[in-house]
Amino acid sequence: MNKLITFEGVDGCGKSTQLKRVSDWLRDLGHDVITTFEPGDTPLGKEIRSLLLAGDFVPVPETELLLFLADRAQHVREVIQPALASGAWVLCDRYSDSTLAYQLAARKLGDSAANLKEMLVFAECGVRPALTLWFDVPVDEAMRRMMKRAEAGEKATRLDDEAESFHERVSFAFKQQFDDNASGRIARMDAAQGMDDVEKQVRDVLKQRFGLSA
Ligand code: TYD
Repeated sequence: MNKLITFEGVDGCGKSTQLKRVSDWLRDLGHDVITTFEPGDTPLGKEIRSLLLAGDFVPVPETELLLFLADRAQHVREVIQPALASGAWVLCDRYSDSTLAYQLAARKLGDSAANLKEMLVFAECGVRPALTLWFDVPVDEAMRRMMKRAEAGEKATRLDDEAESFHERVSFAFKQQFDDNASGRIARMDAAQGMDDVEKQVRDVLKQRFGLSA
């Protein structure tokens, strides 16, 4: 069984906190767990991440898409596939749904004639998530959380600093992907709730989908 779970949502949705909590929970249950993220969780990917997000350069949208896909292919081959082959759970902070939401929808690259969804499939190297947790939170609440983080000294990335309208397009795209998700791969978490409530929602989905007990 493929045990890849991806965590998705707008910046500030709380998915990274939940990823950490799920990994602790699964480990307590005795499972092998690898946690990882995109972009940047390989040595080459770290360089790509810096090119993409540090803000020293502003890539045109086409370049931005290609760099995210380059990071993904490297990540799948170098980290995700070997981890899945070893039988571990792989919890990945962002994957192709982010590219659909940020580059194809919010940057409007999906309006072009090229079939970019095929490029997304190519970069996945055959690896699809068994389950995607979508942390749904209103954009104004997500932006409020991001502002709090900035006040606490956390450095914003080039994309965090995009206008609210950009984040609204990202948010709408995630909702659309959830609505179109005939296979049921994507599960919606109400991420406007407190962290403990969201954690319970996540555990309930994992118990139901994978027959985990605890
Ligand atoms: P990061 O600092 O890792 O934060 P987050 O906790 O929000 O994931 O920032 C990654 C940024 O890259 C985030 O703004 C989303 C964006 N992104 C894309 O635009 N396309 C993609 O394919 C991926 C994986 C991320």
